[in-house]
Amino acid sequence: MPKTLVSGIQPTGAVHIGNYFGALAQWLELQEQYQSYLFIADLHALNQIHDRERLAANIQEAIKTYLAIGLDPEKVVLFRQSEVPAHTELCWILNCITSLGTLERAHAYKDALANSKAPNVGLFDYPVLMAADILLYKPEVVPVGPDQKQHVEIAADLAQRFNHLFGQTFVVPQVLLRRESPIIPGLDGRKMSKSYANTIGLFDAPELIQKKVMSIPTDSSRPEDPKDPENDHIFALHRLFSTDQLPELEQRYHQGGIGYKESKEILLSNINTFLKPIQERYQQLERKPDYLAEVLEAGRKKAALVAEATLAEVKTRVGL
Ligand code: ADP
Ligand code: TRP
Repeated sequence: MPKTLVSGIQPTGAVHIGNYFGALAQWLELQEQYQSYLFIADLHALNQIHDRERLAANIQEAIKTYLAIGLDPEKVVLFRQSEVPAHTELCWILNCITSLGTLERAHAYKDALANSKAPNVGLFDYPVLMAADILLYKPEVVPVGPDQKQHVEIAADLAQRFNHLFGQTFVVPQVLLRRESPIIPGLDGRKMSKSYANTIGLFDAPELIQKKVMSIPTDSSRPEDPKDPENDHIFALHRLFSTDQLPELEQRYHQGGIGYKESKEILLSNINTFLKPIQERYQQLERKPDYLAEVLEAGRKKAALVAEATLAEVKTRVGL
């Protein structure tokens, strides 16, 4: 039996290369080895997006993205969280064994408080819904970016707590971080994030990417000056897109003889080569709404079968 994995991404807007290298690329590698349940976390997104058209468009964009990057619906189960009601049902049952303190310590909630945003109950309960998303499929692993590690640990704690209270039911899942668990830097060197407007979008037009790359801030050193690759936002992106040329680029940085303009041009060309096939597949999928609906419906059926079986077991265990 292959091992199982579960993961999801919130459909909160244009996917960027931080999401790609932080989460999606790993799904691609793992689809060959694991029975994968990958979903669009649309219920999670609802605690941020209160605009029907925007949420609906983001959900469509998410499924096209999953397929465009090369996830194979014959191998992985692709579905929408909101279409498998067992997620919210299990969330409630887990709510009843979750302490307030655990949720008060969770990052998403603490960040919202720190930014003096008034969090809604959905945001507060976010880790419990996420635990339900995971535990329903009894996965061994949950591949996520480093910022989601704490949430998976909460899911593992809840699995243990439930098993302890009601008898062995859930597999205790483990976080699977990418090998070097990188935080992908944005154009300004901070974590690439929608919230910082420092992203390169997976589906940005080439002209826009050109504008973004050419405006990466640099220091005032001249082409002939030696440069420190560790202190350069352009070089940080070369590590993702220019892997073949990395030793050569590093040497030229140290020795001097490469200007930031040339470095940006090399980067730009490599980004375009990388994104072109993904963008082409995305455009083809835009013309196939029926196919997208079929993929999601087939995924819903497969996911619901497993999720409902676990939920039935849980209900029996707790005495419902
Ligand atoms: P954003 O910060 O742009 O709002 P999300 O929080 O929606 O991104 O992230 C979705 C997924 O992509 C998560 O699994 C997260 O770990 C991953 N991710 C997002 N930004 C980065 C980044 N800069 N580096 C690595 N992984 C990232
Ligand atoms: N919280 C995750 C994120 O923002 C999305 C998510 C929801 C998720 N449920 C999940 C990820 C279950 C892994 C497993 O990226």
